[in-house]
Amino acid sequence: MVNCLLSEDTIAQAAAALAAGQLVAFPTETVYGLGADAENPAAVAAIYAAKGRPQDHPVIVHLAPGAMLSHWAAEIPEQAHMLAAAFWPGPLTLILKRAANIPDAVSGGQDTVGLRCPAHPVAIALLNAFKGGQGGIAAPSANKFGHVSPTLAQHVREEFAADNTVAMVLDGGPSRVGIESTIVDLSRLATHGPVLLRPGQISADAIEAVIGQRPQAADAAAPRASGTLESHYAPHTPVAMQDGATLAATLAQLSQTAHKVALIHIAEFAEVFASLRMPADPDGFAYALYAALREMDGRGADVILVEAPPQGADWLGVNDRLRRAAHGSHGIVHGLLNSALP
Ligand code: TXA
Ligand code: MG
Repeated sequence: MVNCLLSEDTIAQAAAALAAGQLVAFPTETVYGLGADAENPAAVAAIYAAKGRPQDHPVIVHLAPGAMLSHWAAEIPEQAHMLAAAFWPGPLTLILKRAANIPDAVSGGQDTVGLRCPAHPVAIALLNAFKGGQGGIAAPSANKFGHVSPTLAQHVREEFAADNTVAMVLDGGPSRVGIESTIVDLSRLATHGPVLLRPGQISADAIEAVIGQRPQAADAAAPRASGTLESHYAPHTPVAMQDGATLAATLAQLSQTAHKVALIHIAEFAEVFASLRMPADPDGFAYALYAALREMDGRGADVILVEAPPQGADWLGVNDRLRRAAHGSHGIVHGLLNSALP
Protein backbone atom coordinates (compact mmCIF):
# COMPACT_ATOMS: atom_id res chain seq x y z
CA MET A 1 0.00 0.00 0.00
CA VAL A 2 1.43 3.37 -1.01
CA ASN A 3 1.45 5.65 2.01
CA CYS A 4 -0.52 8.54 0.57
CA LEU A 5 -4.07 9.79 0.21
CA LEU A 6 -4.63 7.93 -3.06
CA SER A 7 -4.82 4.23 -3.90
CA GLU A 8 -1.84 2.31 -5.22
CA ASP A 9 -3.84 1.73 -8.44
CA THR A 10 -4.36 5.44 -9.00
CA ILE A 11 -0.66 6.16 -8.47
CA ALA A 12 0.31 3.30 -10.83
CA GLN A 13 -2.11 4.60 -13.45
CA ALA A 14 -0.64 8.12 -13.16
CA ALA A 15 2.94 6.79 -13.41
CA ALA A 16 1.95 4.79 -16.52
CA ALA A 17 0.34 7.89 -18.08
CA LEU A 18 3.58 9.83 -17.52
CA ALA A 19 5.63 7.00 -19.00
CA ALA A 20 3.31 7.06 -22.04
CA GLY A 21 4.11 10.75 -22.58
CA GLN A 22 0.89 12.15 -21.10
CA LEU A 23 0.46 15.07 -18.70
CA VAL A 24 -0.47 14.42 -15.07
CA ALA A 25 -1.21 17.21 -12.59
CA PHE A 26 -0.13 16.36 -9.05
CA PRO A 27 -0.01 18.02 -5.63
CA THR A 28 3.17 19.27 -4.02
CA GLU A 29 3.59 21.03 -0.68
CA THR A 30 4.06 24.39 -2.49
CA VAL A 31 1.53 24.42 -5.36
CA TYR A 32 0.14 21.84 -7.80
CA GLY A 33 2.44 20.91 -10.69
CA LEU A 34 1.64 19.97 -14.30
CA GLY A 35 3.92 16.98 -14.81
CA ALA A 36 5.52 15.20 -17.77
CA ASP A 37 8.40 12.77 -18.24
CA ALA A 38 11.44 15.08 -18.09
CA GLU A 39 13.35 12.80 -20.50
CA ASN A 40 10.63 12.87 -23.17
CA PRO A 41 10.96 16.12 -25.19
CA ALA A 42 7.51 15.72 -26.83
CA ALA A 43 5.88 15.32 -23.42
CA VAL A 44 7.70 18.39 -22.09
CA ALA A 45 6.61 20.34 -25.19
CA ALA A 46 3.02 19.38 -24.37
CA ILE A 47 3.37 21.18 -21.00
CA TYR A 48 4.37 24.39 -22.76
CA ALA A 49 1.44 24.05 -25.15
CA ALA A 50 -1.06 23.38 -22.34
CA LYS A 51 0.16 26.36 -20.29
CA GLY A 52 0.57 28.72 -23.24
CA ARG A 53 4.09 29.28 -21.98
CA PRO A 54 7.05 30.48 -24.09
CA GLN A 55 9.38 27.62 -25.14
CA ASP A 56 12.52 29.26 -23.76
CA HIS A 57 11.38 29.13 -20.13
CA PRO A 58 12.96 26.24 -18.21
CA VAL A 59 10.90 23.88 -16.03
CA ILE A 60 11.83 22.33 -12.69
CA VAL A 61 12.60 18.59 -12.64
CA HIS A 62 11.09 16.83 -9.62
CA LEU A 63 13.02 13.87 -8.22
CA ALA A 64 12.23 11.05 -5.79
CA PRO A 65 13.99 11.13 -2.41
CA GLY A 66 17.41 9.56 -2.86
CA ALA A 67 17.48 10.04 -6.65
CA MET A 68 20.88 10.17 -8.36
CA LEU A 69 21.71 13.86 -8.80
CA SER A 70 24.56 12.96 -11.14
CA HIS A 71 22.05 11.68 -13.70
CA TRP A 72 20.66 15.22 -13.99
CA ALA A 73 23.48 17.60 -13.13
CA ALA A 74 26.98 17.81 -14.62
CA GLU A 75 28.58 19.62 -11.69
CA ILE A 76 27.36 19.06 -8.15
CA PRO A 77 29.08 21.41 -5.72
CA GLU A 78 29.32 20.49 -2.05
CA GLN A 79 26.75 23.23 -1.29
CA ALA A 80 24.16 21.35 -3.38
CA HIS A 81 24.63 18.18 -1.33
CA MET A 82 24.41 20.19 1.90
CA LEU A 83 21.21 22.00 0.89
CA ALA A 84 19.59 18.82 -0.42
CA ALA A 85 20.45 17.03 2.83
CA ALA A 86 19.04 19.89 4.89
CA PHE A 87 15.87 20.74 2.94
CA TRP A 88 14.80 17.82 0.70
CA PRO A 89 12.12 16.68 0.53
CA GLY A 90 11.02 20.30 0.72
CA PRO A 91 10.30 23.65 -0.96
CA LEU A 92 13.79 24.36 -2.34
CA THR A 93 14.85 24.22 -6.00
CA LEU A 94 18.56 24.05 -6.87
CA ILE A 95 19.85 25.35 -10.22
CA LEU A 96 22.89 23.33 -11.34
CA LYS A 97 24.84 22.84 -14.56
CA ARG A 98 22.82 20.28 -16.47
CA ALA A 99 24.03 16.85 -17.53
CA ALA A 100 24.51 16.31 -21.27
CA ASN A 101 21.59 13.90 -21.58
CA ILE A 102 18.98 16.39 -20.30
CA PRO A 103 16.68 17.46 -23.15
CA ASP A 104 16.89 21.11 -24.24
CA ALA A 105 13.14 21.42 -23.71
CA VAL A 106 13.55 21.04 -19.93
CA SER A 107 16.15 23.76 -19.59
CA GLY A 108 14.71 26.18 -22.12
CA GLY A 109 17.98 25.95 -24.02
CA GLN A 110 20.09 27.07 -21.02
CA ASP A 111 23.06 25.05 -19.73
CA THR A 112 21.44 24.58 -16.32
CA VAL A 113 18.70 22.45 -14.80
CA GLY A 114 16.39 23.14 -11.85
CA LEU A 115 16.00 20.20 -9.44
CA ARG A 116 13.75 19.68 -6.46
CA CYS A 117 12.44 16.83 -4.32
CA PRO A 118 8.92 17.81 -3.17
CA ALA A 119 7.59 17.05 0.33
CA HIS A 120 4.11 15.77 -0.42
CA PRO A 121 3.12 12.12 0.10
CA VAL A 122 1.27 11.94 -3.25
CA ALA A 123 4.16 13.53 -5.16
CA ILE A 124 6.65 11.18 -3.49
CA ALA A 125 4.47 8.11 -4.19
CA LEU A 126 4.20 9.17 -7.84
CA LEU A 127 7.95 9.81 -8.15
CA ASN A 128 8.72 6.43 -6.54
CA ALA A 129 6.32 4.65 -8.91
CA PHE A 130 7.52 6.45 -12.06
CA LYS A 131 10.42 4.56 -13.71
CA GLY A 132 11.12 2.80 -10.43
CA GLY A 133 12.04 6.05 -8.69
CA GLN A 134 14.80 6.83 -11.22
CA GLY A 135 12.78 9.15 -13.47
CA GLY A 136 12.33 12.89 -13.29
CA ILE A 137 8.99 14.67 -13.58
CA ALA A 138 9.26 18.05 -15.27
CA ALA A 139 6.57 20.26 -13.78
CA PRO A 140 5.79 23.94 -13.72
CA SER A 141 2.90 25.17 -11.62
CA ALA A 142 -0.37 23.81 -13.09
CA ASN A 143 -1.83 27.11 -14.28
CA LYS A 144 -2.03 29.02 -17.55
CA PHE A 145 1.06 31.15 -18.14
CA GLY A 146 1.05 34.26 -15.92
CA HIS A 147 -2.07 33.26 -13.99
CA VAL A 148 -2.42 32.50 -10.26
CA SER A 149 -0.79 29.20 -9.21
CA PRO A 150 -3.13 26.40 -8.00
CA THR A 151 -3.14 25.19 -4.41
CA LEU A 152 -6.14 22.85 -4.79
CA ALA A 153 -6.96 20.12 -7.34
CA GLN A 154 -10.13 22.09 -8.09
CA HIS A 155 -8.00 25.10 -9.17
CA VAL A 156 -6.18 22.85 -11.66
CA ARG A 157 -9.43 21.52 -13.07
CA GLU A 158 -10.68 25.10 -13.52
CA GLU A 159 -7.47 26.15 -15.30
CA PHE A 160 -7.64 23.35 -17.87
CA ALA A 161 -11.40 22.70 -18.00
CA ALA A 162 -11.65 23.86 -21.61
CA ASP A 163 -8.69 21.74 -22.78
CA ASN A 164 -8.25 18.06 -23.36
CA THR A 165 -4.58 18.12 -22.55
CA VAL A 166 -4.32 16.84 -18.96
CA ALA A 167 -4.75 13.06 -18.61
CA MET A 168 -5.19 13.01 -14.81
CA VAL A 169 -5.43 15.45 -11.91
CA LEU A 170 -4.31 13.79 -8.66
CA ASP A 171 -6.10 15.31 -5.65
CA GLY A 172 -3.85 15.59 -2.60
CA GLY A 173 -5.79 18.26 -0.73
CA PRO A 174 -4.63 21.84 -0.16
CA SER A 175 -0.94 22.61 -0.66
CA ARG A 176 0.57 23.17 2.78
CA VAL A 177 3.08 25.93 1.89
CA GLY A 178 0.97 27.77 -0.69
CA ILE A 179 3.68 29.68 -2.60
CA GLU A 180 6.31 28.24 -4.95
CA SER A 181 9.67 26.87 -3.86
CA THR A 182 12.66 29.04 -3.07
CA ILE A 183 15.06 28.89 -6.06
CA VAL A 184 18.81 29.08 -5.46
CA ASP A 185 21.26 29.19 -8.34
CA LEU A 186 24.43 27.22 -7.59
CA SER A 187 25.52 27.02 -11.25
CA ARG A 188 27.87 30.03 -11.08
CA LEU A 189 29.30 29.61 -7.59
CA ALA A 190 32.90 30.39 -8.50
CA THR A 191 32.05 33.78 -10.01
CA HIS A 192 28.79 34.83 -8.32
CA GLY A 193 28.34 32.69 -5.20
CA PRO A 194 24.84 31.37 -4.48
CA VAL A 195 22.04 33.53 -5.96
CA LEU A 196 18.43 33.72 -4.78
CA LEU A 197 16.32 33.62 -7.97
CA ARG A 198 12.93 33.37 -6.25
CA PRO A 199 12.10 33.86 -2.55
CA GLY A 200 9.97 31.23 -0.84
CA GLN A 201 9.36 29.67 2.55
CA ILE A 202 13.01 28.63 2.90
CA SER A 203 14.72 31.95 3.62
CA ALA A 204 18.16 33.32 2.75
CA ASP A 205 18.96 33.07 6.48
CA ALA A 206 18.10 29.35 6.52
CA ILE A 207 20.29 28.76 3.45
CA GLU A 208 23.17 30.74 4.91
CA ALA A 209 22.92 28.73 8.13
CA VAL A 210 23.55 25.52 6.13
CA ILE A 211 26.23 26.57 3.61
CA GLY A 212 27.82 29.51 5.43
CA GLN A 213 27.27 31.80 2.44
CA ARG A 214 24.34 34.17 2.03
CA PRO A 215 22.53 33.90 -1.33
CA GLN A 216 22.55 37.28 -3.08
CA ALA A 217 19.70 38.82 -5.06
CA ALA A 218 19.60 37.98 -8.77
CA ASP A 219 21.62 40.11 -11.21
CA ALA A 220 20.93 40.71 -14.89
CA ALA A 221 23.11 37.78 -15.98
CA ALA A 222 21.37 35.28 -13.68
CA PRO A 223 19.59 32.35 -15.34
CA ARG A 224 16.13 33.42 -16.46
CA ALA A 225 13.16 32.36 -14.36
CA SER A 226 9.62 33.02 -15.60
CA GLY A 227 8.34 33.33 -12.04
CA THR A 228 10.63 36.35 -11.88
CA LEU A 229 8.84 38.21 -14.68
CA GLU A 230 7.48 41.49 -13.33
CA SER A 231 3.91 40.50 -14.09
CA HIS A 232 3.03 37.01 -12.89
CA TYR A 233 0.68 35.19 -10.53
CA ALA A 234 -2.05 37.61 -11.64
CA PRO A 235 -5.85 37.28 -11.39
CA HIS A 236 -8.03 38.75 -14.16
CA THR A 237 -9.37 41.51 -11.87
CA PRO A 238 -6.83 44.33 -11.38
CA VAL A 239 -4.95 44.12 -8.07
CA ALA A 240 -3.62 47.05 -6.03
CA MET A 241 -1.62 46.81 -2.82
CA GLN A 242 -1.65 49.65 -0.23
CA ASP A 243 -0.49 50.05 3.36
CA GLY A 244 -3.24 50.10 5.99
CA ALA A 245 -3.59 53.89 6.39
CA THR A 246 -3.66 54.57 2.64
CA LEU A 247 -6.06 51.69 2.16
CA ALA A 248 -8.50 53.03 4.78
CA ALA A 249 -8.55 56.39 2.96
CA THR A 250 -9.00 54.69 -0.43
CA LEU A 251 -11.92 52.64 0.89
CA ALA A 252 -13.57 55.78 2.27
CA GLN A 253 -13.24 57.48 -1.12
CA LEU A 254 -14.38 54.46 -3.11
CA SER A 255 -17.39 54.05 -0.81
CA GLN A 256 -18.71 57.29 -2.35
CA THR A 257 -18.70 55.61 -5.77
CA ALA A 258 -20.51 52.64 -7.27
CA HIS A 259 -17.29 50.67 -7.75
CA LYS A 260 -17.14 47.17 -6.29
CA VAL A 261 -14.13 46.48 -4.08
CA ALA A 262 -12.86 43.04 -3.12
CA LEU A 263 -10.57 43.35 -0.10
CA ILE A 264 -7.80 40.99 1.07
CA HIS A 265 -6.71 42.20 4.48
CA ILE A 266 -5.17 41.45 7.88
CA ALA A 267 -6.41 44.41 9.97
CA GLU A 268 -10.01 45.53 10.53
CA PHE A 269 -11.52 47.76 7.80
CA ALA A 270 -14.93 49.15 6.85
CA GLU A 271 -17.34 46.77 5.13
CA VAL A 272 -16.91 46.44 1.34
CA PHE A 273 -18.48 44.48 -1.56
CA ALA A 274 -16.42 41.35 -0.78
CA SER A 275 -13.59 40.67 1.63
CA LEU A 276 -11.32 37.98 2.99
CA ARG A 277 -9.38 38.26 6.22
CA MET A 278 -5.92 36.69 6.11
CA PRO A 279 -3.79 35.10 8.85
CA ALA A 280 -1.35 37.60 10.38
CA ASP A 281 1.70 35.30 10.16
CA PRO A 282 3.72 34.83 6.95
CA ASP A 283 3.26 31.04 6.67
CA GLY A 284 -0.49 31.30 7.27
CA PHE A 285 -0.77 34.19 4.79
CA ALA A 286 1.21 32.26 2.13
CA TYR A 287 -0.96 29.18 2.65
CA ALA A 288 -4.15 31.19 2.02
CA LEU A 289 -2.84 33.64 -0.62
CA TYR A 290 -3.55 32.01 -4.01
CA ALA A 291 -6.95 30.66 -2.99
CA ALA A 292 -7.82 34.16 -1.72
CA LEU A 293 -6.78 35.79 -5.02
CA ARG A 294 -8.83 33.23 -6.97
CA GLU A 295 -11.87 33.63 -4.73
CA MET A 296 -11.83 37.43 -4.88
CA ASP A 297 -11.21 37.23 -8.64
CA GLY A 298 -14.45 35.27 -8.96
CA ARG A 299 -16.63 37.91 -7.32
CA GLY A 300 -16.94 40.29 -10.27
CA ALA A 301 -15.35 43.22 -8.42
CA ASP A 302 -13.77 46.20 -10.20
CA VAL A 303 -10.59 45.92 -8.17
CA ILE A 304 -8.94 43.62 -5.64
CA LEU A 305 -7.38 45.76 -2.93
CA VAL A 306 -4.73 44.09 -0.79
CA GLU A 307 -3.51 45.44 2.53
CA ALA A 308 0.29 45.36 2.22
CA PRO A 309 1.68 42.76 4.65
CA PRO A 310 4.66 43.60 6.90
CA GLN A 311 8.06 44.03 5.21
CA GLY A 312 10.18 41.64 7.33
CA ALA A 313 12.46 38.95 5.85
CA ASP A 314 9.86 36.28 6.71
CA TRP A 315 7.37 38.05 4.43
CA LEU A 316 9.67 38.23 1.37
CA GLY A 317 7.97 35.39 -0.55
CA VAL A 318 4.45 36.72 0.07
CA ASN A 319 5.39 40.32 -0.83
CA ASP A 320 7.16 39.12 -3.99
CA ARG A 321 4.03 37.28 -5.22
CA LEU A 322 1.69 40.17 -4.33
CA ARG A 323 3.91 42.72 -6.07
CA ARG A 324 3.84 40.64 -9.25
CA ALA A 325 0.08 40.05 -9.02
CA ALA A 326 -0.39 43.83 -8.83
CA HIS A 327 2.16 44.71 -11.48
CA GLY A 328 -0.16 45.16 -14.46
CA SER A 329 -2.55 47.43 -12.52
CA HIS A 330 -0.59 50.65 -11.86
CA GLY A 331 -2.97 53.57 -11.49
CA ILE A 332 -6.06 51.41 -11.14
CA VAL A 333 -7.26 53.07 -7.89
CA HIS A 334 -6.64 56.54 -9.31
CA GLY A 335 -8.53 55.53 -12.46
CA LEU A 336 -11.53 54.25 -10.51
CA LEU A 337 -11.71 57.43 -8.39
CA ASN A 338 -11.51 59.62 -11.49
CA SER A 339 -14.09 57.63 -13.41
CA ALA A 340 -16.48 58.17 -10.50
CA LEU A 341 -16.34 61.97 -10.78
CA PRO A 342 -19.42 63.63 -12.28
O1 TXA B 1 7.21 25.10 -5.97
C1 TXA B 1 7.52 25.02 -7.15
O2 TXA B 1 8.67 25.30 -7.55
C2 TXA B 1 6.44 24.58 -8.13
C3 TXA B 1 6.08 23.12 -7.84
C4 TXA B 1 5.14 22.55 -8.86
O3 TXA B 1 7.25 22.37 -7.73
N1 TXA B 1 6.88 24.73 -9.48
C5 TXA B 1 7.00 25.93 -10.07
O4 TXA B 1 7.31 25.85 -11.41
O5 TXA B 1 6.81 26.98 -9.51
P1 TXA B 1 7.23 27.08 -12.40
O6 TXA B 1 7.64 26.56 -13.72
O7 TXA B 1 5.91 27.72 -12.33
O8 TXA B 1 8.36 27.99 -11.89
C6 TXA B 1 9.65 27.48 -11.92
C7 TXA B 1 10.64 28.59 -12.01
C8 TXA B 1 10.47 29.35 -13.27
O9 TXA B 1 10.59 30.72 -12.94
C9 TXA B 1 11.61 28.86 -14.12
O10 TXA B 1 12.03 29.83 -15.04
C10 TXA B 1 12.66 28.56 -13.06
O11 TXA B 1 11.92 27.99 -12.03
N2 TXA B 1 13.64 27.60 -13.52
C11 TXA B 1 13.49 26.30 -13.78
N3 TXA B 1 14.62 25.77 -14.26
C12 TXA B 1 15.51 26.76 -14.29
C13 TXA B 1 16.87 26.88 -14.72
N4 TXA B 1 17.53 25.85 -15.22
N5 TXA B 1 17.46 28.08 -14.61
C14 TXA B 1 16.79 29.14 -14.12
N6 TXA B 1 15.52 29.11 -13.72
C15 TXA B 1 14.89 27.95 -13.81
MG1 MG C 1 4.47 29.14 -12.20
